[in-house]
Amino acid sequence: MSALPRDFLWGASTSPHQTEGNNTGSDWWRMEHLAGDRLELSGDALDSYHRYGEDMRLLADAGLNAYRFGVEWARVEPEPGEFSRAGLAHYRRMIETARELGLEPVVTLHHFSSPKWFADEGGWTGDTAVDRFTRYVEEVCVILDGVEWVVTINEPNLLAVMASYTQGEGSPVPDTGIGERLVHAHRAAVRVLRERTSAKVGWSVAQQALVPAPGAEVVCAQLRYAWEDLYHHGARGDDFLGVQSYTSQTVDSRGVVPHPPHPGNTLTGWAYRPDALGIALRHAWEAVEGRVPLLVTENGIATADDARRIAYTAGALEALYGAVAEGVDVRGYFHWSALDNFEWGRWEPTFGLIEVDRETFVRTPKPSLGWLGGVARRGGGLE
Ligand code: BGC
Repeated sequence: MSALPRDFLWGASTSPHQTEGNNTGSDWWRMEHLAGDRLELSGDALDSYHRYGEDMRLLADAGLNAYRFGVEWARVEPEPGEFSRAGLAHYRRMIETARELGLEPVVTLHHFSSPKWFADEGGWTGDTAVDRFTRYVEEVCVILDGVEWVVTINEPNLLAVMASYTQGEGSPVPDTGIGERLVHAHRAAVRVLRERTSAKVGWSVAQQALVPAPGAEVVCAQLRYAWEDLYHHGARGDDFLGVQSYTSQTVDSRGVVPHPPHPGNTLTGWAYRPDALGIALRHAWEAVEGRVPLLVTENGIATADDARRIAYTAGALEALYGAVAEGVDVRGYFHWSALDNFEWGRWEPTFGLIEVDRETFVRTPKPSLGWLGGVARRGGGLE
């Protein structure tokens, strides 16, 4: 813990579609409405589009010094090549509000949802994908003045799983063809951002913390490539790599072993593994050959029991400190999530440090928010 950099970022994360509400121009909004009973609707979500100031103030008052949020592409470019000045100005106000409250903004440019028109062109599998994304990034640069941290694409590896599903070739392992295209899109975005802004640029990868069962080392290495290392290698040369960790899974000779049902599993059905963050940080550090600093851009637990959230987070931070003590360069920790939010088709898994009444939109901080703020104020001290 004493080895943490002085300017370590202590924050919480959100994404636009999961919090803003009425993201009607996005592919996710459409998908929810076509899915019948299979998906719940995002609807007004948390109305953070209008209430972001209140969200940020709660984080700052608790003692955090950073906030990760995203720009929603569908609001900024509602039709191909047609950019909304008001949409861009909205996100500029968010950046300025964060700054005024003493929160370092970490801005994500793509977090799973895309404009409907982009999906109609084939989304990440379409030939126009890289050009379209690059054009959008060029436009967003206009509002990034003074922003020090930009995440181009959130969890490209999960995006590659989602894209292969929408293509009708669903596979539980990321499609490496789509993954290569995402690497290409990321590299193009990094070039644009470096030319036009002074931000540190990276992307954030979903970490599986895969551990081989005895004799399954080769299968595990193959799966790790498809799941993570293609994307870690795509981060070489970046200013940072975002690490997003929730749980760990074993790989045996048949592949990734599903989490067995267990009363201790979280509300998303994942095994309770605070130690996963340490496994993820060590693996990511090795995959970028110790040359790209890491930022924990997401870590958290879906639970209705806030004491458990505190225990999980304390365990995850112990694991982070252990990795730092071994020489892994970690620049910040962002909890997922600031608020209970729309968990991609479901409302039940609550990841937030803040509870939200979805009828009145009243925000109520949970004890875990005060607890994490205290850790931040103590520079990482857990008690
Ligand atoms: C995503 C978030 C999501 C969280 C919990 C990550 O995959 O970036 O949007 O809500 O994990 O499932």
